Amino acid sequence: MIDPFFHVHCLQEVDSTNERAKELARQGAPEGTVIVAATQWAGRGRRGRSWSSPHGGLYFSLILRPPISPDLAPQLVLVTAACLYRALHRRGLPVSIKWPNDLVAGGKKLGGILVEAGSASQSLSFLVVGVGVNINGPPPIEGGTSIEALAGSPQQKEEILADILGEMKRTYFAYLQEGIGPVLAEYRRGCTTLGREVILVGPKGGAPAKAVDIGERGELFVEDLDGRRRSVFADEVSLRCG
Ligand code: BTN
Repeated sequence: MIDPFFHVHCLQEVDSTNERAKELARQGAPEGTVIVAATQWAGRGRRGRSWSSPHGGLYFSLILRPPISPDLAPQLVLVTAACLYRALHRRGLPVSIKWPNDLVAGGKKLGGILVEAGSASQSLSFLVVGVGVNINGPPPIEGGTSIEALAGSPQQKEEILADILGEMKRTYFAYLQEGIGPVLAEYRRGCTTLGREVILVGPKGGAPAKAVDIGERGELFVEDLDGRRRSVFADEVSLRCG
């Protein structure tokens, strides 16, 4: 059952649950408002990519209004990834997090997170946390996987949504009280990127490096081939595992 903290709006079809949620947030919808859609015809991913959203997947966006400064908004990606990791692990599914916002299993993409902020001058007025997970049916992208494929049988989407939202409520309020430390520890535990050789793909091409840590603003610390340590942010690069 979905925790009564959340006000859930279920739609059959929508352009993008993130777009609907941002519209509602601008109109003053309270924290905990969730838009869920059976399918999206203009689902969006990170870095301007589209997110294929056929029936069978879980697509939702949650409105939050954390009292944090806009530059800390990427921490909500860490919070959400840690929640997805925990909720799906509890079901016995071998999932991990690929930095910054991917959910993967056996190297195949299972889901993703898109956090978008609405800010008024120096303060954050709302955040929309969008989550897409392939649940039932064939994975919508080549090289993807689904919870049905991992579990061996079709799964109840509503139960999975309730589990994820339950984790979100618990972890979000703990984060507001205790800061990012415990979330970051959980993210690091679940992150398959750490310790691996990666290719950082930016506007000037690809650069090999080793992923060594995640910082409090969601940045990835890497060591270049000459041993130099530096950080990269999610909006600067995409990652290929070497
Ligand atoms: C990514 O991996 O690039 C992020 C994908 C996020 C997809 C979800 S589906 C629900 C919500 N609505 C959208 O348009 N995008 C997010």
